[in-house]
Amino acid sequence: MGIVVLTMKASVIEMFLVLLVTGIHSNKDMNKKIKRPKFTVPQINCDVKAGKIINPEFVVKCPAGCQDPKYHVYGTDIYASYSSVCGAAIHSGVLDNSGGKILVRKVAGQSGYKGSYSNGVQSLSLPRWRESFVVSEGKPQKGVTYPSALTYSSAKSLAAKTGEATKAYQKPPVPGTTAQPVTPMQVTGATATEATATSLPKPSPSTGSTTSSLGPQPVGHRSWELDLWSTSSYASGHHSPRANPGEMDLWQPGSVLLDAGFVPKEELSTQSLEPVSQGDPNCKVDLSFLIDGSSSIGKRRFRIQKQFLADVAQALDIGPGGPLMGVVQYGDNPAAQFNLRTHVNSRDLKAAIEKITQRGGLSNAGRAISYVTKNFFSKANGNRGAAPNVAVVIVDGWPTDKVEEASRFARESGINIFFITVEGATENEKQYVTEPNFSNKAVCRTNGFYSLNVQSWFSLHKTVQPLLKRICDTDRLACSKTCWNSADIGFVIDGSSSVGTGNFRTVLQFVANISKEFEISETDTRIGAVQYTYEQRLEFGFEDHSTKADILNAIKRVGYWSGGTSTGAAINYALEQLFKKSKPNKRKLMILITDGRSYDDVRIPSMVAHHKGVITYAIGVAWAAQDELEVIATHPANHHSFFVDEFDNLHKFVPKVIQNICTEFNSQPRN
Ligand SMILES: *[C@@H]1O[C@H](CO)[C@@H](O)[C@H](O)[C@H]1NC(C)=O
Ligand SMILES: *[C@@H]1O[C@H](CO)[C@@H](O)[C@H](O)[C@H]1NC(C)=O
Repeated sequence: MGIVVLTMKASVIEMFLVLLVTGIHSNKDMNKKIKRPKFTVPQINCDVKAGKIINPEFVVKCPAGCQDPKYHVYGTDIYASYSSVCGAAIHSGVLDNSGGKILVRKVAGQSGYKGSYSNGVQSLSLPRWRESFVVSEGKPQKGVTYPSALTYSSAKSLAAKTGEATKAYQKPPVPGTTAQPVTPMQVTGATATEATATSLPKPSPSTGSTTSSLGPQPVGHRSWELDLWSTSSYASGHHSPRANPGEMDLWQPGSVLLDAGFVPKEELSTQSLEPVSQGDPNCKVDLSFLIDGSSSIGKRRFRIQKQFLADVAQALDIGPGGPLMGVVQYGDNPAAQFNLRTHVNSRDLKAAIEKITQRGGLSNAGRAISYVTKNFFSKANGNRGAAPNVAVVIVDGWPTDKVEEASRFARESGINIFFITVEGATENEKQYVTEPNFSNKAVCRTNGFYSLNVQSWFSLHKTVQPLLKRICDTDRLACSKTCWNSADIGFVIDGSSSVGTGNFRTVLQFVANISKEFEISETDTRIGAVQYTYEQRLEFGFEDHSTKADILNAIKRVGYWSGGTSTGAAINYALEQLFKKSKPNKRKLMILITDGRSYDDVRIPSMVAHHKGVITYAIGVAWAAQDELEVIATHPANHHSFFVDEFDNLHKFVPKVIQNICTEFNSQPRN
């Protein structure tokens, strides 16, 4: 009780000062336009979220420095009210980092908010929020009365016992305001309206009962937040808050609902408040950061490294539908700090990063990369399979062991390796470096895409955005391409009468045996199939099946058609129906199997296929014409065409076909 009274006093004084200060700086133009003589522009801190302010429309002054990433912003143009008001204003371009006046208007909640990078602020995505706001320049509209003081929802008072808290809500003797004392009933109304934005005790059974009528909610949203989602007026529009007479006074311009500290202390409530994001769907990667914990790096630099990780965790919208991130620290030996499933949102991840302590020892990055290849990206550790694997290795100076071999193995295991070298060896130090050009040897290409050199630890923060841009560009993540995981393979199968039912089964077995060798998923190798006679039909496309089991089943289910042999038309059809839907970063492989000479011309369709970058293998059985196979096949023909005298010998060619595919892959640049 005593504390309440004391803080109460403090807040009154604070309030007084704020009014005094804002009064002195009040804008003359604004006073002209707005009739109310007492109108002043209230001021808020960078961290104040729109949801904390109950007023539906207001002009407010932001201080300088709100561009800081610690003030979270969710959405683009329309922002979830969970966002920092001033941060959103900078993101939308209405304000710059030097602060100023803005006009804020609440609008209805959205079913999705998309994050974007704009004006130096990275906003995050959010699946759904109960209320939004838009920001425009701080020019008041004619005829609209803006509040000269804001009505805040209160975290502290609500956390206190209701009986005691009531007192704190009573109207303070603020000069120039005409609000009536707030009764306990009004307080209830106010708390219900704002509680979504605060850390609250469980709701009363009566409010809780409305939950069931609501639609889907953000994951992790608590039920007591849910019922408030629908609390009338406030959620959907800004001109109808008076629907509840008990709330009336709180909406009156000039009325002030004080909480103990005037400016809401949101730290108190972030725990229960943070909307649980599904993650940025445009950056769905499984990430491992390998951080340097060697003794030589020193405490201070190690802290900078942690800050860098925290910045990355912040800028990436971590979540099960977006990027996931784990951290491995290496010294003499590596150790996982946490894996992909330990912390699945940016906030928890940042908190965990803060707690990492330095291991000390040497700087054995190679050993760490091997460790990550063997252990980190396992299913048990949260590897999703359908998301590219990325390992970012941070090295202070140079590693004390070799990284080339370990990195090559990692890449062949499907891991995209990025190297960040901070304060690399100077000319004088180069003699000490264990493996010259280690960074170039570790990555798949030396074009600079996968390696970053940072002059000084103190400028490391500048690499956050460039790095994330690369990591999230999943179509360019080609550093882990292998023969097995990087193709779209389209089988073109001759189903003509001469083949016969039994042999057709053998052909399907051959198709299955080749498919089996590849790593199959949405992001790895994909398989499609066309059967043809005179006519053609799509048996299944690249997007139809995304697991090996499904593919093998689909192959089994292909029914024998029987008819003529129009191979040329079939190639055209495969280009249109299959390969048109191939992704740009995939190797396009066509494997055509036929048992006879084509009735139509194959020359032109084959040229078109080659011209379009479809690498074509022609496999002829029994009556197939060798010269025709060579026309169909990509150059050099002897590498891409095969002739088998009978169907029973087809199986012998499985390893040969695979070998040729991989030999060719390995002889070509991989980007
Ligand atoms: C290191 O790489 C650069 C360019 O990538 C090359 O010019 C240089 O010869 C390489 N040095 C060594 C020792 O391999
Ligand atoms: C496919 O593989 C199975 C099992 O290895 C083998 O028995 C069969 O002969 C193969 N068939 C063809 C056509 O490759």
